[in-house]
Amino acid sequence: MNEIAPVTQSDSDAAPKMPTLPDAQTVTEVKHWTDRLFSFRMTRPTTMRFRSGEFVMIGLMGDPDPKTGKVKPLLRAYSIASPSWDEELEFYSIKVPDGPLTSKLQHIKVGDEIILRPKPVGTLVHDALIPGKRIWFFATGTGFAPFASLLREPQTYEDYDEVIITHTCRTAGELTYGRELIEALEHDELLNEVIGDGFWKKIKYYPTTTREQSAKMGRITDLINSGEAYKELGVEPLCPQNDRAMICGNLAFNLELKAMLEAAGLEEGANSKPAQYVVEKAFLD
Ligand code: A2P
Repeated sequence: MNEIAPVTQSDSDAAPKMPTLPDAQTVTEVKHWTDRLFSFRMTRPTTMRFRSGEFVMIGLMGDPDPKTGKVKPLLRAYSIASPSWDEELEFYSIKVPDGPLTSKLQHIKVGDEIILRPKPVGTLVHDALIPGKRIWFFATGTGFAPFASLLREPQTYEDYDEVIITHTCRTAGELTYGRELIEALEHDELLNEVIGDGFWKKIKYYPTTTREQSAKMGRITDLINSGEAYKELGVEPLCPQNDRAMICGNLAFNLELKAMLEAAGLEEGANSKPAQYVVEKAFLD
């Protein structure tokens, strides 16, 4: 059975935003990062279990059908950005002006309801990889979301000596969500206690931008192919013995990086057949 969290509304905001559904959860926080990106947190059903890196279907009620007047849920796959131990759920989303869901979702406020189908799935999970020394998280744009979960997951640091997170975005502002999250790990008392003091020192963060000046310009794919990224990170080139990788970004990026990993000798894994890398497409409305 799913929990239905109560929604408190002020007098000035008395009209319900949408029908209360059995699967609805309540928004607890909304943060707008740029005019294209926002993140939000919501209540989590106490019965819902998931593995860090998985995704779920979430959404809102759609507009009424012009003929029948019926409303149907409008759902999309979203990576869960919070780790499996968090008592709430966090998501990181793009705002597509004409996107059927995100054009509405970007206006959500604390106390609003969001539909959640609590059936998590996905391949960006530790179970789909065989043991290795170093894990690479490759993200573009909102593809950072599953890594926001995995970077706060104790198993990431139990399984690997080094954790490299690359994030390529168009502008510097689009890096802020990831940067702040990574910087906060150093001061996270709970994680330092649970995982081990200084666990965050295993992280090597490599943010790049492509359409606005920043400390590092360029696509990660080009920076790896030229050897520049290895040099700056101080690591050996990708190899099947030591390296494991997870990819999450736009389709062209996923395909390009997948080909690069295959060329380096890494094999794609799955829940049913763990191997050396896994890939998942970031949500786009
Ligand atoms: P670029 O600006 O050169 O297209 P988007 O917001 O369109 O999803 O893109 C997010 C980031 O991913 C952008 O910085 C974009 O760079 C980059 N990107 C797009 N395609 C690729 C690719 N095939 N390989 C590497 N990076 C890519």
